[in-house]
Amino acid sequence: MSKVLVVESSVRQEGSVSRQLTAEFVARWQKAHPQDQVTVRDLARDGVPHLDADLLGGWMKPAAEQSAAEQAALVRSNQLTDELLAADVLVLAAPMYNFAIPSTLKSWLDHVLRAGVTFQYTAQGPQGLLQDKRAFILTARGGVYAGGPLDQQEPYLRQALGFIGITDVTFIHAEGLNMGGDAAEQGLAKARKQLEAVA
Ligand SMILES: Cc1cc2nc3c(=O)[nH]c(=O)nc-3n(C[C@H](O)[C@H](O)[C@H](O)COP(=O)(O)O)c2cc1C
Repeated sequence: MSKVLVVESSVRQEGSVSRQLTAEFVARWQKAHPQDQVTVRDLARDGVPHLDADLLGGWMKPAAEQSAAEQAALVRSNQLTDELLAADVLVLAAPMYNFAIPSTLKSWLDHVLRAGVTFQYTAQGPQGLLQDKRAFILTARGGVYAGGPLDQQEPYLRQALGFIGITDVTFIHAEGLNMGGDAAEQGLAKARKQLEAVA
């Protein structure tokens, strides 16, 4: 049995293409792997705080020296990191907002890229501590960016996940969703075809 962690980040609960794709991915995955356990972390429904001084203080200090506020910040952050540590498969939904990932997803990454837990510094440079995890990233974009210099989602997410040791990463892009004509339909059909092949 594997554990699958789905991270949703569209602000839309209704009409979201990335949520539709994660739902289709999970349905297919569960059909192929009925024993697997799926956990959903919805960053829009259940907001993740930005990094703040309390959390950084909690990370830096031994437990005995932490204030109540630092301990509370740690509890919340640890939950996010523990979910990722426990997962074998990560499914990230990444709508494109203003050429990048949603700020909530950036905040989630700020919690889970954690020194001493998901990566460590060594004499040879930083080293990812997560092993044997696979990631599937489902993007939804109004325009078309994949493979071009303006795609700031895929390179960033590859770098951030690779930094913590997740290097087996598959992207599925649903593009052209706001371009009118047949573009949305074609973009979605292409993404679904890829999804069928990998999930
Ligand atoms: C605030 C906001 C910013 C957006 N910025 C971009 C953008 O920079 N480039 C783009 O191609 N689409 C952009 N879009 C369009 C979304 O990527 C597109 O609607 C996508 O389907 C959103 O994901 P969702 O359907 O899962 O909510 C933006 C949408 C919103 C709401």
